[in-house]
Amino acid sequence: MRKINVGLIGFGNVGSGVVRILQEKKGLLKAKIGIEVNIKKICDKDIISKRNVSVDKDILTKNAKDILGDPQIDIVIELIGGIHPAKEYIIEALNRGKSIITANKALLAQEGKELFAIAKDRGKNIYFEASVGAGIPIIKSLREGLVANRFNGVYGIINGTSNFILSQMSDNNCTFADALRQARLKGFAEKDPTLDIGGIDSAHKLILLVYLCFGKLIEVDDIFIEGIPRIALSDVNYAKELGLEIKLLAIAKKQKDELDVRVHPTLIPKNHLLASVGGIFNAIYISTDLAGNLLFYGPGAGQLSAASAVVSDLVDLVRDMKAGLFRSSLNVVPDKSISKLKKIDEIESRYYIRFMAVDKPGVLAKISGILAKFGISIASVTQKERRRAQVVPIVMILHESKEKSLRQALSLINRLDIIKENAVAIRMEEV
Ligand code: HSE
Repeated sequence: MRKINVGLIGFGNVGSGVVRILQEKKGLLKAKIGIEVNIKKICDKDIISKRNVSVDKDILTKNAKDILGDPQIDIVIELIGGIHPAKEYIIEALNRGKSIITANKALLAQEGKELFAIAKDRGKNIYFEASVGAGIPIIKSLREGLVANRFNGVYGIINGTSNFILSQMSDNNCTFADALRQARLKGFAEKDPTLDIGGIDSAHKLILLVYLCFGKLIEVDDIFIEGIPRIALSDVNYAKELGLEIKLLAIAKKQKDELDVRVHPTLIPKNHLLASVGGIFNAIYISTDLAGNLLFYGPGAGQLSAASAVVSDLVDLVRDMKAGLFRSSLNVVPDKSISKLKKIDEIESRYYIRFMAVDKPGVLAKISGILAKFGISIASVTQKERRRAQVVPIVMILHESKEKSLRQALSLINRLDIIKENAVAIRMEEV
């Protein structure tokens, strides 16, 4: 075996990066794996536009069947994103005995059960290193480097766009709308940025991390998801005054026999390593039984960073093919100590709450009276401005409280005539 033929479906930003790495690092890769990796065909609906890499025109096609139906192609790299037709292409490639590499976290999160089952049945692999944290080798580390560990928890800043927005708000006093505009201009947001700012992209990635850490392939609907659009610049600034930073955190933590899985804006102490992760950077903080607490950090998006992960999958596959081996790209064993997922109503957390209330005597008494009825205890309270008979922000930090009780209390408080906007509540986390 001297050469492995690969078919690339999706010649966009990351696809061009893969081709570039295979061209520029051809010698290095050949020396490391002893086999030439040959991109035999590239499929894209646009084969005209110039990319920052040049390829022989003859290998370009608009028809995926030219790759899927080519018996000399052993590996298909899917980089078109989205659910359809990516799913159908992957199924057809597996049915034709090809192995898959994909960066498509939305597809694996939604359709992974079916796709991994087909792959298993066909004795083929689906590799997906680029789907979480781009070039950060988190998937391989969970699968191989930490193979003997049990995981207590995973805390991820895994959406670069949201992290960029929150960092701009915190560092440059930008409003949410201004920061989102900048993120779009820089081009790291998904085609539909609501996936980023709504927390869905983080949830997709969290599903893959949970599968690798706890052996459970959960569904998007199993995850409580809250995005960042309700976070105001004032919340970011008040949090800073309290020594806290707001991050969109993807959390999966074991609590006795339950797994608590959620994505939401979270307040963490400013001196925690995760609080210093800024801009489009991603970080995944993992708590393990053997290796202790680990932090994986790096750019969470970018052409060469994501392409670096795809090439690492390629090398894994090629090495196995050369050795005539089959090693599962999953290597997951369910954590039997977990019997169920924790419901969001059942979690207990400390909270930051911002009320917008009329500035007049007795307001605090009304709010705290309702909180007390639900057994919720206040740790601190600050009225941020003084404007007699007008609306002012009141910021409270609550002691550990049950989410369900807090929601019930807030829904009563929001109905008071002294309250002019629904309260903003942000969970705090001791990572
Ligand atoms: N849109 C994603 C992010 C990048 O902002 O992190 C690709 O996963």
